[in-house]
Amino acid sequence: MVRIATGGDGGGLAKVEADLLAMCVFEDEDVPREVLGDKAGVLKDGDFSGKKGSSALVYNPGGLASPRLLLVGLGPRSSFKIDTLRRAAATAAKRARSLKLGSAAFALPVQEGSAARVAAAEAVAEGATLGLYSFDLYKTKADGHELSNFTIVSDDEGVAEGAETGAKLAAATVLARDLQNEPSNTATPEFLAQKAREIVERHGMDVTILDRAAIEAEGLNGLATVGRSASNEPRFIVLEHKGGGDEAPVVLVGKAVTFDSGGISIKPSAGMEDMKFDMSGGAAVLGTMDAVGALRLPVNVVALVPSTENLPGGDAFKPGDVLELHSGKTVEIVTTDAEGRLILADALSYAKRYEPLAVIDCATLTGACHVALGDHASGLMGNDDGLIEEVRNAGEASGERAWHLPLFDEYTEQIRGNTADLRNSGGRYGGALTAGAFLKEFVDYPWVHLDIAGVAYSAKAKNAYTPKGGSGAPARLLVEFLRGRAGDGATA
Ligand code: BES
Ligand code: MN
Ligand code: ZN
Repeated sequence: MVRIATGGDGGGLAKVEADLLAMCVFEDEDVPREVLGDKAGVLKDGDFSGKKGSSALVYNPGGLASPRLLLVGLGPRSSFKIDTLRRAAATAAKRARSLKLGSAAFALPVQEGSAARVAAAEAVAEGATLGLYSFDLYKTKADGHELSNFTIVSDDEGVAEGAETGAKLAAATVLARDLQNEPSNTATPEFLAQKAREIVERHGMDVTILDRAAIEAEGLNGLATVGRSASNEPRFIVLEHKGGGDEAPVVLVGKAVTFDSGGISIKPSAGMEDMKFDMSGGAAVLGTMDAVGALRLPVNVVALVPSTENLPGGDAFKPGDVLELHSGKTVEIVTTDAEGRLILADALSYAKRYEPLAVIDCATLTGACHVALGDHASGLMGNDDGLIEEVRNAGEASGERAWHLPLFDEYTEQIRGNTADLRNSGGRYGGALTAGAFLKEFVDYPWVHLDIAGVAYSAKAKNAYTPKGGSGAPARLLVEFLRGRAGDGATA
C-alpha cells in the first residue's frame, strides 16, 4: 500500500522533488508564473481551465525541480466541497501509478496555518489511499505498478496529523471493501467473526461471538431461522469499544448476509453473484470499529453484526411460516427473500440491553431503495429528528451521502400480519419504507436506519476514489458520526 507522508515545503513548490507534483487549480484562476515557468501556454491556449474532474500533465515546467506537473481542476472556488479534493487526490495518485512512477507530491489548495488545511490534508490522504485501492487477492499474477510514496507538500504539524487521521479513515473503508470483495466461499459468517477477533486484538476491545447453539439459546430466532439450512453456520458478532467511561453506548448494527440466494423464494440467476455483497452493512460496521480503535475515540461503541447465508434446502424456512423473533413479536413469512429485516429485528431488540444513546443500522436491505435513489445516496429513515440530521451531516462531510425518507404510519399498516403481528413484506410499492417501518417495530431508543443497497457496491467505478466492487460505504459516514459524538469531527 502507498505510504502517505508530509513535508518538503521548505523551499516552496519549486524545490519539491517527486516524480510528479500535483497542483489544484480553481476554474478560471491563474497558476503562479514561478510554477508553470515557460509552460504557461497550457492555460493561455485554453487546454486546461480548471474544470472539475479535468487534469493536464505538463513536462519539465521551467519553474520546478519535479519533471512533471499535474494540474488538477477543482471547478469554481465558490462551489468547492471537500469531496472534490478527495477526488483530485485520487486522480493525481492514479495518474502517477499509471505512469509507473515511484513518487507523487500533492500541493494543498488552502492557506498555510489554517484549520481548513488540516481538513484538506485529511481528505487528500483519504482520496489518494482509496483511489489506489484494488482487490487483487485472487489474481495469480500481480497486474500493474504500485505507487510507493505520496507526499502532501507541507511542513505544518497539523497537516501531518490530518494526513494521519485521513489514512486511518481510509483504512476503515479499505477493511470494509476487502471483506465485501471477498467471495462467499471464503467470506463465511465465521470468517467475519475471525476478522472481528483480529480487530479487537489490535485495539484492545471486547468481543463475543455467538455460534448457532448460542444464537438459538439467546432467542435470536430470525437469525437462527434464516441460517438454519446453511452448512456455513450463522454467527452473531458483538464488539465493544469502551472509550467513554460510564456513558451509555452508541450501537451500530450491520446486516451481514454472506450470500443471499433469496432462499426458497429464490432470486433470478442473472446477477445473483452480486449477492455476495449482502454482507456490506456488517463489513462497514467492522471497518468502522477498526477506525474507532485506531483513532482511540473517547466514546462507547457497541457493534452488532448478525451474519448468515440465505439458502434453500430441505431444512429451509418457507413462505407462510410464522416465527417469533427475539423481541417476542411474531412474523409471517411472505417471502424468504426478505431475510435482512428478520436478522436486523433480532439485533435491534438485542440492542435494548445497552440502553443506547443512539442506534444506527446499515443494510443492503431493499432493491426498492436502489430504485428510489439510484447509487448516489443511502436511504435514511429514523424516529428522531436530531439524530437524523446528525447522520445526514456526517454523510455530507464524509462524502457518503444519505437522504431522508419518510416512515409514515401507513407504511406500518402495509406490514400488518394476517396470522401473526407482522408480515415480512409490504409488497412492491414503497419497498424501502415498509422495510424501514418493519425495523421500527423493534426499537425503543433514538434510531436511524441506512438502506445501502444502492451505494454498497457497483459494477463500475463511481468516482475517482470509488473503484468498482465494494465501496466500503457507509464506514466513513459512521466514523464521522462517532467523531462528532466525541467532539472531534468536521460535523461536531
Ligand atoms: N439483499 C436484498 C436486497 C438487495 C437487492 C440488495 C438488490 C442489493 C441489491 C434483500 O434481502 C432482498 O432480497 N430484498 C427484497 C425484499 C422484498 C422481497 C420484500 C427486495 O428488495 O426485492
Ligand atoms: Mn433477500
Ligand atoms: Zn438480503
